[in-house]
Amino acid sequence: MSATVGQARDDVAARLAAAGVASPAVDAELLLAHVLGCARPQVRLRRTEALTVQQARDLEGLAARRAAREPLQRLLGEVGFRRLTLTVADDVLVPRPETEVLAGHAIAATPPGAIVVEVGTGSGAIALAVADEARPGLVLATEASPPAVAAARANARRHGLRVDVRAGDLLAPVPEGLRGRVAVLVSNPPYLTEAERQAAPLEVARHDPAPALVAGPTGHEVTDRLLAAATSWLAPGGTVLLEVAEARATAVAARAEATGLVDVAVHPDLTGRPRVVAARRAPRGPRTA
Ligand SMILES: C[S@@+](CC[C@H](N)C(=O)[O-])C[C@H]1O[C@@H](n2cnc3c(N)ncnc32)[C@H](O)[C@@H]1O
Repeated sequence: MSATVGQARDDVAARLAAAGVASPAVDAELLLAHVLGCARPQVRLRRTEALTVQQARDLEGLAARRAAREPLQRLLGEVGFRRLTLTVADDVLVPRPETEVLAGHAIAATPPGAIVVEVGTGSGAIALAVADEARPGLVLATEASPPAVAAARANARRHGLRVDVRAGDLLAPVPEGLRGRVAVLVSNPPYLTEAERQAAPLEVARHDPAPALVAGPTGHEVTDRLLAAATSWLAPGGTVLLEVAEARATAVAARAEATGLVDVAVHPDLTGRPRVVAARRAPRGPRTA
């Protein structure tokens, strides 16, 4: 390993580039920042500083794991999600930047005091962002995976945010008394086929839990179940928001319309790709005699 911060940065960046890492220079700087205990911009300012033996050893270990395509966020142990820093736990999906867009739609759709339900909360990212940035009356999050339930509860404690995390299948853990009263039903559910999961970047295919990604043979299996349930759980005028695979966005929107949902829209992610399907339960019309 190189003697100075600058040399180490260049060596690690070259090693990560050779391993096929998408952003080798950024990752090298973030790994160095982690080892040095400083912010990323400081790494450049400290480029002539010599690494200690322990820092060089720590960096070597992290660089080797990153070169084996372990996700950067798993190595750093944390990920930024909107205004929050979330702990990344083993066997729990790492929240993605595009999901910040879905969370933004959920926040915008949440009136003060409203009931919000997130299905498949993982680390708790979306539910916690809603609790943090909107003024909901209740945020209830469901999750099938025990490590994810624990991670979401730990992230809620970390930020002192009130999210009721319940273990179970899709909407089964939601109390029956909330049926027809949910203002926002939001989910980034499993939406890939097994072939699509295997074709994903190694960081995803090797290190994210398969049940967090794969819906079934068509990729529609979980979104279909959520759309079928949406009308009975949503309040009149309530909104369902789903993150979807780009290739299936139009099809999911058509399926939403087919269930009787209204105002169906497809929204882009940060790079302009269609990744969010939004729809509403029809508002209650004026009473007729
Ligand atoms: C794509 S991940 C999204 C995690 C998190 N919401 C996020 O955006 O980072 C899907 C999540 O749904 C959970 N899940 C999968 N099937 C489920 C089911 N039938 N009921 C509840 N949760 C489920 C997975 O364990 C996983 O945490």
